Amino acid sequence: MPKDTLTITDNRTGASYELPVVDGTIRAMDLRQIRTGSDDFGLMTYDPAFMNTASCRSAITFIDGDKGILRYRGYPIEELAARSTFVETAYLLIYGELPTEAQLKEWSGQIAAHYMVHENIKKFVDGFHYDAHPMGMLVCTVGALSTFYQDSKNIFDPPSRLHQVYRLLGKMPTLAAYAYRHSRGLPYAYPDPALTYVGNFISMLGQRAGACEPFVPNPVLERALDLLFILHADHEQNCSTNAMRSVGSSHADPFCAVAAATAALYGPLHGGANEEVLKMLREIGSRERIPDYIKRVKSGELRLMGFGHRVYKNYDPRAKIIREAAHSVLEVTGSSPLLDIALELERIALADEYFIKHKLYPNVDFYSGIIYQAMGFPVAMFPVLFAIARTAGWIAQWQELLLDKEQKIARPRQVYVGHPPRAFVPIDKRVAV
Ligand code: CMC
Repeated sequence: MPKDTLTITDNRTGASYELPVVDGTIRAMDLRQIRTGSDDFGLMTYDPAFMNTASCRSAITFIDGDKGILRYRGYPIEELAARSTFVETAYLLIYGELPTEAQLKEWSGQIAAHYMVHENIKKFVDGFHYDAHPMGMLVCTVGALSTFYQDSKNIFDPPSRLHQVYRLLGKMPTLAAYAYRHSRGLPYAYPDPALTYVGNFISMLGQRAGACEPFVPNPVLERALDLLFILHADHEQNCSTNAMRSVGSSHADPFCAVAAATAALYGPLHGGANEEVLKMLREIGSRERIPDYIKRVKSGELRLMGFGHRVYKNYDPRAKIIREAAHSVLEVTGSSPLLDIALELERIALADEYFIKHKLYPNVDFYSGIIYQAMGFPVAMFPVLFAIARTAGWIAQWQELLLDKEQKIARPRQVYVGHPPRAFVPIDKRVAV
């Protein structure tokens, strides 16, 4: 009978060990018993960038990168994209089940009741330089919420935790809109709890100063942004989620943890790639220049931005959905020469031996920037939109962490490669190195 175990022979000592294999993993702590002697600390794994280490057991998001599958709580992303809303999807991620009609009403109402931020937040935003990046402002203002809500420290009190969840989901769009309006030199627009989550956000961005009429978002654009929020809501243990869990593991309040996650998302290797795609498409400039650009990519001079993924070795399912949505958005906003270039670029790349061999397919960022740009968002706002949506996933992952009895403060080990012990050198005897 095959056994779910792994037998390891330590060639240094000749000793043999049998370790249980559960869910395709061995426990790193089971390796600690493998020692050469009593003063040996025990065997560790070395895994920079967590290339092959599961840091948690999670029931939130499933990805099969080879097959191009993404599911939230078991529901295929394609079905959620077609039939759900961002607010409903956020409920699903956080509670684990789709809400009933009454639950959804209560959930949406509570979130809307928390759209408003304290007036002092305006003073905060006013303090930023006129050309401050909105993502930098968002990192600071969401972290600042920690100082407004002292009760957010009660992370093991379920009602208090839920209160912070409403606050975070409700206030992120308001903070984002304040950052946007500050960078445009516009007065801040107050949220309207009567509007939908995305409708309210668009309205806070577009409301004209002094206008008597409320701003009415175009329903096609509202739906497209809601769809993009669904697609960006969670993606299991990515860089920013890992930051959320890591900071959350010290039992910091959720506003500080979301500030850390937002900071991680700010980096160009994570939330900033769609901006690079736009730059690339502009640089290519016309369909005729695509073959030459592809040649440069294949020679190693450039990377095709918006292509390839650490996990997906197949078409990113989110990219497929966004590509379809791009058409309906452009019907409203007018055609974009960038979309034509992107479609032709994709067609040529997917038929090319280099991309086939390297399993390089469009990822979520290939088409999202085109939509955002067509909707009129400045490029600096792209990662901010990502952060609003990902807040739902961050919260779900943070709650899961707090309720997981196996989790403790995140504290990786290291392999020390520095100096052996040495004597302190008085300053007059030191030589510059
Ligand atoms: N264009 C050309 N060649 C590529 C590309 C690309 N976009 N991506 C990977 N390759 C090649 C790479 O040169 C390497 O080739 P070889 O084995 O011959 O040296 C091979 O494919 C493997 O590349 P890698 O860098 O080891 O793969 P990775 O898993 O470390 O990197 C990636 C994944 C997303 C960083 C990378 O594909 C990339 O830089 N893509 C462009 C940037 C981009 O679109 N990023 C958005 C990612 S999705 C957003 C998110 O989830 O946060």
